[in-house]
Amino acid sequence: MEIHAYEKLWLALALVLIVGFIGTITYGAAGVGIEMIDDKGGTVDPATLDEHPKFGDPGVEKTGENQYDVYVVARQFVFEPGTTEPIRVPEGSTVTFHVTASDVIHGFEVVGTNANTMAIPGQVAEFTVEFDEPGEYGLLCNEYCGSGHHVMEGKLVVMEQSEFDSWYEQQQQEGEN
Ligand code: CUA
Repeated sequence: MEIHAYEKLWLALALVLIVGFIGTITYGAAGVGIEMIDDKGGTVDPATLDEHPKFGDPGVEKTGENQYDVYVVARQFVFEPGTTEPIRVPEGSTVTFHVTASDVIHGFEVVGTNANTMAIPGQVAEFTVEFDEPGEYGLLCNEYCGSGHHVMEGKLVVMEQSEFDSWYEQQQQEGEN
């Protein structure tokens, strides 16, 4: 059987398209460092968050050399910390966020990064972000959570190391008093 030259060309082009589509999907899923948030963060009782050792007084905690944990509670219509007080971390840090909600489902997005999760009552979303340069990021709730959803926002500040150290030390002292 003889295949017409144009027919061969169409076959080849169709094949290139199929391989190309599979390639873009594979790249999108695995190549750009996108990590899905799973249930490894564990669970928490939303009714007694105030008594929780971490979420009872959420904030930034140093866990190692340039390693930090940040605990965040989302509630109608603030992030704590984030809204009244910005979340502060130092430049060049690796930050693991632990995010939960106390009332309804919220979102927690660090605008301009690919850090973006749902904050679900009872569930802890855990994910790690590296912040290289000093700067400011907005925080957004992107799950409809009630009448104040559109004003639910906050700020994350990546500080210079020395500036952060003195702020952190002051925080620690205030915590002890
Ligand atoms: Cu919280 Cu929308």
